[in-house]
Amino acid sequence: MCGIVGYIGSQQAPPIILDGLKRLEYRGYDSAGICTIFADCADIRRSEGKLANLVDLVGLIPIFGEIGIGHTRWATHGKPTEINAHPHQAGPIVLVHNGIIENYIPLKSSLREIGHTFKSETDTEVIAHLIEQRMKDGAGFEEAVRQTLLQLKGAYALCIVCESEPDTMIAAKHGSPLVVGIGDGEYFVASDIPAILAQTREMVFLEDREIAVFRRDGVAFSTITGEVLSKATRHIDWSPLMAEKGGFRHFMLKEIFEQPRAVQDTMAGRLLEEEGNVYLEDLGLTDAEMAGFSRICIVACGTSWHAGLVGKFLLEELCRISVEVDIASEFRYRNPVVSSGTLLLAISQSGETADTLAAVREAHGKGAKAIAICNVVDSSIAREADGVVYTHAGLEIGVASTKAFVTQLVAISLFALRFGRATGAISRERGIELTSSLLHLPAFIEEALQLDTAVESIARRYHNSSDFLYLGRGYSYPIALEGALKLKEISYIHAEGYPAGEMKHGPIALIDENMPVVMLVLRDRHYEKVVSNMEEVIARGGRVIALCSAGDSETAQKAEAVLELPSCAEIVAPIILSIPLQLLAYHVSVLKGNDVDQPRNLAKSVTVE
Ligand code: G6P
Repeated sequence: MCGIVGYIGSQQAPPIILDGLKRLEYRGYDSAGICTIFADCADIRRSEGKLANLVDLVGLIPIFGEIGIGHTRWATHGKPTEINAHPHQAGPIVLVHNGIIENYIPLKSSLREIGHTFKSETDTEVIAHLIEQRMKDGAGFEEAVRQTLLQLKGAYALCIVCESEPDTMIAAKHGSPLVVGIGDGEYFVASDIPAILAQTREMVFLEDREIAVFRRDGVAFSTITGEVLSKATRHIDWSPLMAEKGGFRHFMLKEIFEQPRAVQDTMAGRLLEEEGNVYLEDLGLTDAEMAGFSRICIVACGTSWHAGLVGKFLLEELCRISVEVDIASEFRYRNPVVSSGTLLLAISQSGETADTLAAVREAHGKGAKAIAICNVVDSSIAREADGVVYTHAGLEIGVASTKAFVTQLVAISLFALRFGRATGAISRERGIELTSSLLHLPAFIEEALQLDTAVESIARRYHNSSDFLYLGRGYSYPIALEGALKLKEISYIHAEGYPAGEMKHGPIALIDENMPVVMLVLRDRHYEKVVSNMEEVIARGGRVIALCSAGDSETAQKAEAVLELPSCAEIVAPIILSIPLQLLAYHVSVLKGNDVDQPRNLAKSVTVE
């Protein structure tokens, strides 16, 4: 949902800003823009479409300056045109914004009444005009920003420069993420760590209603009401190499193939094999607290919600506790029944998804504890929750989530094991069995990845179909949903995931000789039932692509196309099933000539409602 970058120091700002924007492009790619302050004047370049267009423009008409700001946009208010692209300027003020200003309409009307005219349709432009007006009324740059921030309702991460104070840059945050990078006599601002990782690994995370004022000789942090803050710097371990493609054609493919390592890293140092238990360093819950919960509510969005659905199966099965799974945007607005006996489990790769963050706040407001499963360290959700289980997937750049999803499934398994051991629902023996199944997981994933060529040829056979159906039961049902989501996200083919047993109540009407049906038919407790569903599909002319257990010749004979997966324990089966489905979506997207890593209309991190 928009990415912002800022720089002040003694290097030329444009290459640093453009490099940062490139790494943030996953947040939005409708338009992009850059501004520097050079010889006390704001120099702005903006262009519609992807960042490459802005880079070309800057190549044609170069831009210079040691202080500057940049933006990559995911449109909320106003079409993705050049006029709506950031930065926005009003008088001496130029700024970039990520978020939504909810009261921009009344603010805009009052500004119009006193003579301000607006060039764009955005909510952002009012912020620039408000600051300009405050300065006209006599305030200095910093004071004008503070006064303006107090008038705004909604969410913002802002980076602001001013022609009349050319050696100052101001960043402010409320509701949208913002990180400050500390260099040697230079400072960086960005929506996310990867944007500035190549420049520095020393970072300061701004909290809501905080601002950072950068001058040539240093940075000062304070609240927007002026209370001076002393903020800790954190050293970030991620390597800048993680943000490179490493020889793969796309980030998504690289990330799919990184999964054995990502899973290994997520389990590293946590499995206590001999005790059949798990150590979770930042969980923040005692055994007694865990035993006191009567219910778990899982909240998440998108792919993370699918991980939550698998989590329900796992937690209910292993821990015998009642679990509800909710889409965060629904949960936060329906006055959910949550109390101190409820544990909220918020799942989010980015840790910044606005609805999931709001769900955590809603649960806290009702007296519940919240635990986060996040990939991004120190992200907003991780910080606000009472405890966190980090997935160590590393940086995920492809907009369609792959390794983050799989590591979420691992983190949920670890959490379930820890929870069940704490409450007594899982015996030591069962715990030992489960830890051993998890330990075999990276090898199974390696085996599943070897299906890549076979999956590619299936993709060639079916990529012109206009609809796909994905069916599974039990643990495989959420994986069917995820498989369908992955396909539609990056191939733009309509795909539906369904519980196989529910097919006869509707989707069966769609089946004909043009409909590929991806059946998840592992040899588990649902095997015979799913085989019957597969027969029902075949009887209606459907074209079955079966994902089955190795050696299941019966299924192999019936299906039009087959992928055989290593036989594994039920707890890890959803992960193994996910791999060929990711590859299928990937190859179909490539064959259709789509932009795999930056699919249309999507953004990786959704920091608006
Ligand atoms: C966006 C992304 C999805 C992601 C979802 C939730 O829609 O494109 O890949 O699953 O947000 O994001 P989160 O960071 O909370 O897991």
